[in-house]
Amino acid sequence: MTSDRISADAVRRILKTRFMGREIHCLETVSSSNDAARELARSGSREGTVVLTDFQTQGRGRMGRAWVSPAGKNLLLSVILRPRVRPHVVPLITLMSAVAAARTIRDWNLKAEIRWPNDVCVDGWKVAGILTEMDSGPEGRPFLVLGIGINVNMEETDFPSGLKDEASSMRLLLKKSVDRTALLGSLLLRLEESYALLGGEKHETLSRQWSEFSCLTGRWVRVDSADRRIEGVVLGIDASGELVVRLENGLVETILSGDVRLIK
Ligand code: BTN
Repeated sequence: MTSDRISADAVRRILKTRFMGREIHCLETVSSSNDAARELARSGSREGTVVLTDFQTQGRGRMGRAWVSPAGKNLLLSVILRPRVRPHVVPLITLMSAVAAARTIRDWNLKAEIRWPNDVCVDGWKVAGILTEMDSGPEGRPFLVLGIGINVNMEETDFPSGLKDEASSMRLLLKKSVDRTALLGSLLLRLEESYALLGGEKHETLSRQWSEFSCLTGRWVRVDSADRRIEGVVLGIDASGELVVRLENGLVETILSGDVRLIK
């Protein structure tokens, strides 16, 4: 069965985390789980609070794109985080979540990789995306909402025509359906582990993982960022989460945010 609902009780029974997902709200339909989590954060919900939904009427991705997901087949969740907010914290949170999502999907025997900055792919197919948004409460205290969408049990006919050539699901790649509750439990544990490595002495381990998991390293790319376009070969992702690219003229540039396309 692929369109079972996930219940908060079922998640709590299998959860091995200390705080991630210990407060969880399972909602049938929302506009976007990021919006629902933002409201909870603004009214003071604690770090690690999760909003999980079966269906979003206005699910969104990066760069104003829509995130399309049929009811009850995938994982759609948002997590409230309250890190010490420093400049550039958003890209780091996105990458640490991409590591956590990739490790989770690898636990299901799929070779998940990170396509900087926020995609998780298997054999070039996008199976998960991350949207990190920053806001602050009425008292001005900043927080982050980490939105994660994983294509779990989508079938071929569930993909809109514009996505058929680039997106896939764990079910399609594994040729069998995946228990979404178990996957969520594993994701929340991986998230808690990765989050603990962020910014402290162990940050090195996390940044090594995001470089190792990157499917762009050694590839020719075109990167469009707010003010310019560059092309070059990717050398890796540095410890501050920036993409390191060697241009054709030999200069090495680091890019904080942008949209990447493989060109060779
Ligand atoms: C992307 O690939 O551009 C990011 C997609 C992020 C989708 C998730 S689904 C749960 C959360 N709620 C949203 O509206 N978006 C994120």
